Amino acid sequence: MPKRVRTAVFPVAGLGTRFLPATKAMPKEMLTVVDRPLIQYAVDEAREAGIEHFVFVTGRNKAVIEDHFDRQFELEATLEARGKTQALDELRKELPSAGRTSFTRQQEPLGLGHAVWCARDIVGDQPFALLLPDMVFRAKPGVLRQMMDAYEETGGNVIGVEECAWEDVSSYGVVVRGEGTDTGFKIDGMVEKPKRDEAPSNLFISGRYILQPEIFTLLAEQTKGAGGEIQLTDAMQVLMQKQAFTGVKYDGKVFDCGSKLGFLTANVVFALDRDDIREGFLKELRNLDLEDHL
Ligand code: UTP
Repeated sequence: MPKRVRTAVFPVAGLGTRFLPATKAMPKEMLTVVDRPLIQYAVDEAREAGIEHFVFVTGRNKAVIEDHFDRQFELEATLEARGKTQALDELRKELPSAGRTSFTRQQEPLGLGHAVWCARDIVGDQPFALLLPDMVFRAKPGVLRQMMDAYEETGGNVIGVEECAWEDVSSYGVVVRGEGTDTGFKIDGMVEKPKRDEAPSNLFISGRYILQPEIFTLLAEQTKGAGGEIQLTDAMQVLMQKQAFTGVKYDGKVFDCGSKLGFLTANVVFALDRDDIREGFLKELRNLDLEDHL
């Protein structure tokens, strides 16, 4: 049996420049899809997968994320006094228990690889999950849960992948698919933003990983790669020469909520998924007479 994955890392120190001015004073990860901040979706997904320790790599302006995962006594007292027990229960249920969250600062946004490296002392010498909170998934069971199932069989490193249109491969990191099935295949390589005719597959890495702690040593050794940032992909490519990487083509769909289009689409899809909102929302959409806007 491979070592259990108990810890998840959430890098939330990016500048979110694609979402300015919304992200000038507020972290991107607090943008809401319907009524939940992006970070809450990632934490819920991790919890469903059996994660017990939630590590946030934060930056400036991110204190609000810490507050989001804390108790809010004034609010709780008010909800209680007003008899809003359901809202109160929801709030309490969603909170990681005391002592199960850790926060560290990246200080400078030197890239995703650097943000992950900042979590090294908190994670220690154990495998960990990595979730990019701006990638929100519509998947049942959650994507990390599906990846854990593969990990329990194979151990090593696991990466969640999804098919994209071939004309979009140059926007993503894609994998070289080796032997195996969709629920667990060998990854023989990775290519960052390939040209369409040079792409080894259209399976892109969509922001969910299970990694072995040796990645930290490789991240520490790294110099800045593309865009002057310390790249996670570069470190994974080196680790791949020593350790197995398994791909999981999960059952589900990602919405890149770090981009305006992905975020807007996620809001529509998640609203339509909600029993308490669907009907009213459809009515509003129909009233809009969208034909006028198209
Ligand atoms: P992005 O590539 O979306 O970068 O980061 P970004 O800076 O947040 O946003 P844009 O591109 O400027 O709009 C993917 C994830 O990695 C984190 C981000 O917070 C996001 O969750 N990240 C990125 C860091 O924690 N630190 C960094 O230096 C860069």
